[in-house]
Amino acid sequence: MENNKIKIGIIGLGTVGTGVFKTLQSFDNIEIVKIAVRNKNKKRNIENLDENLITDNPYEVVNDPSIQIVAELIGGTEPAFDLIKTAISNGKHIVTANKELLAKHGEELFNFAEANNKVILYEAAIAGGIPLIMPIKTILAGNKINKIKAILNGTTNYILTKMDVQNASYEDVLKEAQQLGYAETDPTGDVEGYDAAYKITTLATIAFKKRIKFANVYREGITKIRPEDMKAANEMGYKIKLIASAELDEAGNADVRVHPMLVPKSKTLAHIDYVTNAVTLSGHPVGEVTLSGPGAGEFPTASSVVGDILAIVSEIGKTDYLLPMMRCNHHENATPVNISDTKNKYYLSICSKNSLGVIGRIGQACEANNISLASIVQKEVEGSYADITVITELCREQDMQKFIDTINNDAAITKVNSLIRVQV
Ligand SMILES: NC(=O)c1ccc[n+]([C@@H]2O[C@H](COP(=O)([O-])OP(=O)(O)OC[C@H]3O[C@@H](n4cnc5c(N)ncnc54)[C@H](OP(=O)(O)O)[C@@H]3O)[C@@H](O)[C@H]2O)c1
Repeated sequence: MENNKIKIGIIGLGTVGTGVFKTLQSFDNIEIVKIAVRNKNKKRNIENLDENLITDNPYEVVNDPSIQIVAELIGGTEPAFDLIKTAISNGKHIVTANKELLAKHGEELFNFAEANNKVILYEAAIAGGIPLIMPIKTILAGNKINKIKAILNGTTNYILTKMDVQNASYEDVLKEAQQLGYAETDPTGDVEGYDAAYKITTLATIAFKKRIKFANVYREGITKIRPEDMKAANEMGYKIKLIASAELDEAGNADVRVHPMLVPKSKTLAHIDYVTNAVTLSGHPVGEVTLSGPGAGEFPTASSVVGDILAIVSEIGKTDYLLPMMRCNHHENATPVNISDTKNKYYLSICSKNSLGVIGRIGQACEANNISLASIVQKEVEGSYADITVITELCREQDMQKFIDTINNDAAITKVNSLIRVQV
């Protein structure tokens, strides 16, 4: 006899898929009817897994007429994109954790889902276990959110925290993080800021109710951060963090970026350490709200995926138009702001020859490029070289880039070792 359980198909049984499978076991109104993997022979960390559920053809999941909800948990753009479209065409709702896919093809997928009267939920795709999308779309819906500052990547936050605590180099800490499983063998996606950029693309789109295009998100990673920068930042009252930030002005211009920042120790994000993630949302009328928690991992991520599945399950069969609040109902694009047109405060570490008048020359180059200095400190004179640490007032990025060209071409100065923006 046909049971009344909601039928789920899972594509991907890796870190997230395994957590989702295990978590769903305690819900007796849900039945997992098929699971697609790449390699059927791989040993799985699941007790008494029914081998009959497993297929290595994900189209068996999206084409199965009994399945009502598909959880896409494989990652990457293809075949995930085609699988989701096929599943929607076949009348299924989607839950996904795939930040890359949403950042690159979210618009097309959400439009396709809406045209087919199906939903795509993706709570896990932004910050793993931290609830963000549902709170923004429901409890914070009365707000005009215009600013986000976030730590959205656990790997880079772990590396930066370790560099800070151990006074260690990026290279050494990366190696250690790889051994501990906190960083991938190829860490590019994390350390160059791609992962955080995918997440802030979707998060800002939802929070600002205007589409942000991934291609317009400015991105810089953490590979050039030096222990010397960590030390200098600490002495001046800051921590260095990889910050995903987004700001929307009154005219609808969106400045969205990912890059390292000196975060004042007075701010919550300065104290978010190791693999923890945190998101500070600013808006009216709420003011500032920070949500923090585990941004990745088997069970934290499963918590969000399962929450999305249950949200759909609770409505199936009760309405013809599921979860209107959770649908993507904005179609306007934000106007992107180019980083060279932004104003920032900067930290600079300059290596100069230990000769007379160097500080004066830096001052002149600042003046010539409309840059005011907040502080300038010369320290650690080693042999014939001096380290000069500069913090500027707010100035234009394009002026700063011209200043750096001037400084790098000055014979008395060897080079600008670091340029890191400072949170104001
Ligand atoms: N890991 C986290 O903490 C985390 C947090 C938030 C979001 N996410 C997102 O969640 C998704 C999954 O991440 P994950 O860490 O769980 O990845 P993972 O551990 O690498 O697992 C991927 C799973 O997908 C399966 N797979 C890959 N290609 C397939 C294909 N073409 N057909 C069928 N199955 C296929 C793999 O099969 P085999 O097992 O046979 O290789 C594996 O089971 C990604 O979008 C990721 O960005 C992950």
